[in-house]
Amino acid sequence: MKDRDLILQARDLHAWYGSSHVLHGVSLEIARGETVGLLGRNGMGKSTLIRALLGHVAQRDGLILIGGHDVSRGKPHELARRGVAYVPEGRGVFPNLSVKENLLMAARPAAAGDRRAWTFARVMETFPRLGERLGNLGSQLSGGEQQMLSIGRALMTQPELVILDEATEGLAPMIVAEIWRVIAAMRADDIATLIVDRDYRKVLEHSDRGIVLQKGQVVLAGEASSLASDPQLGRFLGL
Ligand SMILES: Nc1ncnc2c1ncn2[C@@H]1O[C@H](COP(=O)(O)OP(=O)(O)O)[C@@H](O)[C@H]1O
Ligand SMILES: [Mg+2]
Repeated sequence: MKDRDLILQARDLHAWYGSSHVLHGVSLEIARGETVGLLGRNGMGKSTLIRALLGHVAQRDGLILIGGHDVSRGKPHELARRGVAYVPEGRGVFPNLSVKENLLMAARPAAAGDRRAWTFARVMETFPRLGERLGNLGSQLSGGEQQMLSIGRALMTQPELVILDEATEGLAPMIVAEIWRVIAAMRADDIATLIVDRDYRKVLEHSDRGIVLQKGQVVLAGEASSLASDPQLGRFLGL
């Protein structure tokens, strides 16, 4: 069988914080347009896996390909250039810049004739609240607005892969619903996504596949629909 068209291919990833070995040989593939849910209890290495993929962990080992290009030694900006956008745990907005500046500085031009381009206008349409706050500083936004801005910034880069680490954490139910709606819109747009969220049901409902980490290793992986009914899932998630 021909290889699937992969946006991300990671093989045998390891990561360390000082002498603490946290990731133990994780492999992960994401096809173009595919949504993958990353599950696991607190402290199992989900954020570390993401940060290792992005080059934010100083001590790492393994092979990482983005669209077939080896970025194993790549710095975060190189991944951004290759179409990987990251919505970090705890949000990533510039507190001293206005909402508009935050969005425009992330912008990358869309390919000519791309009708699905994430333009400033489309981000405004998607997050009308941000439109009402364009002149406000990042620091003046509510937690939910900051998260929308962080996702808006990711979309403005015309990403091929968006990585969301606990994007709904600590937000009001209405905002959480809005974020899942945008995740669904990305999926409909064939943007690949890697999602971490405490609500494992929602993750699996919105994903094509899921993988479960335990102590820095993949212990379970499969189609989202079959994972949802896998009797082992509850044990690995501590339910
Ligand atoms: N900056 C850090 N320095 C040292 N240890 C860390 C750091 N970040 C995370 N860890 C440890 O690495 C392990 C995995 O953490 P993390 O990747 O944040 O898990 P998750 O995102 O699944 O909750 C945990 O034991 C955590 O305490
Ligand atoms: Mg985490």
